[in-house]
Amino acid sequence: SEQYEGDKPFTHLRALVTAGPTYEAIDPVRFIGNHSSGKMGYAIAKRLHDLGATVTLVSGPSHEIAPKGVDLVKVNSAAEMLAACQEHFQSSDIVVMSAAVADYTPTEYADQKIKKKEDSFALSLQRTTDILATLGQQKTAQQTLVGFALETNDELANAKGKLTRKNLDFIVLNSTNDTGAGFSTDTNHITIIERDGQEHRYELKSKDAVASDICERILVHRNSL
Ligand code: CTP
Ligand code: CA
Repeated sequence: SEQYEGDKPFTHLRALVTAGPTYEAIDPVRFIGNHSSGKMGYAIAKRLHDLGATVTLVSGPSHEIAPKGVDLVKVNSAAEMLAACQEHFQSSDIVVMSAAVADYTPTEYADQKIKKKEDSFALSLQRTTDILATLGQQKTAQQTLVGFALETNDELANAKGKLTRKNLDFIVLNSTNDTGAGFSTDTNHITIIERDGQEHRYELKSKDAVASDICERILVHRNSL
């Protein structure tokens, strides 16, 4: 059936979304990960698709089911997520990075399961590449780049720092201080901060409703281009 452009304002646009945690392998049976469920990113991917976009969802390990019609690319590590994002970034009009990417990865991978020996054990870690900052450097004026910030203190100042440092169009600040918002819940409490300093505060609501709010801000940004 015919679709009205008004219902599907992102028709003819391509979107790239990241979701979930990354797993950084230590040895064949162990990894460093985090409690991200992927729910927020999957909800954003679904909403973008519902609004008419052609969506690629790059996801770390998650139990979420890919929304119908969304192209799912599954990855494990931060390095794999970077490679998948690089592959799709240039052709994307809208990019939303909601993944909880590891900041550090083991300096060395042990081919065989590490045996316990001494009473204490130190693991050497090295920084991963900041995927979002890397894409921010490559961004053109026609692309909308959205990042997330997870903060426990100095929330607004820290989020604003990430917004400018990573060259984003806006950043979604996740409040971790209140119950019902966070990694494995179905709800989220966000503030969107724009480059011009405008702040949009939203109520605690379902991640599907939060995804709609974020996509509404993306639409406003697209209309300003
Ligand atoms: N991010 C990323 N690649 C990384 C680390 C983070 O793409 N290696 C992205 C996340 O997807 C998110 C944003 O950067 O959109 C902010 O992540 P966050 O962990 O809040 O900030 P960091 O810049 O990693 O700073 P820190 O953890 O030290 O607060
Ligand atoms: Ca981080």
